[in-house]
Amino acid sequence: MKVLVLHGVNLDMLGKRDPVQYGTVTLPEIDNALQSVGTELGVEVESFQANVEGVLCERIHRAHGEVDALVINAGAWTHYSYAIRDALAILRVPIVEVHLSNIHAREAFRHTSVIAPIATGQIAGFGVDSYVLGLRAAVSAARPAPASKQG
Ligand code: DQA
Repeated sequence: MKVLVLHGVNLDMLGKRDPVQYGTVTLPEIDNALQSVGTELGVEVESFQANVEGVLCERIHRAHGEVDALVINAGAWTHYSYAIRDALAILRVPIVEVHLSNIHAREAFRHTSVIAPIATGQIAGFGVDSYVLGLRAAVSAARPAPASKQG
């Protein structure tokens, strides 16, 4: 099983950017934590970050038929990118939207996610744990349920 983790615009600046909201964790540290969880769960995890919207859309296009689940923190694109939403909607795999901060407790423009309606679910407000929980949720959503025991 392969899970693609997508990081959107400005997330490469974690560690330098608004530590009150995002702490001091860096993107490579998040990706390392996800690799460890992937090893624990026995799944391949690939991470990808882009600051150009079309580049992220093209990575989502390539994911079609290639990955079993997807975790995405689209950063500010979460709130207005119909292009990313439409690209994700083409996929036929579980999609978990994650955010480090609790977007619903911040400025009003962050309360809307155009991705949430086409996602399997959303996890926000737990810092790095949002990604870790998101990866676990994506894997269990993609794994077939165990056959129930009879008799
Ligand atoms: C974010 C929240 C967004 O509103 C913001 O634009 C980000 C990061 C988060 O992880 O909390 O870039 O997605």
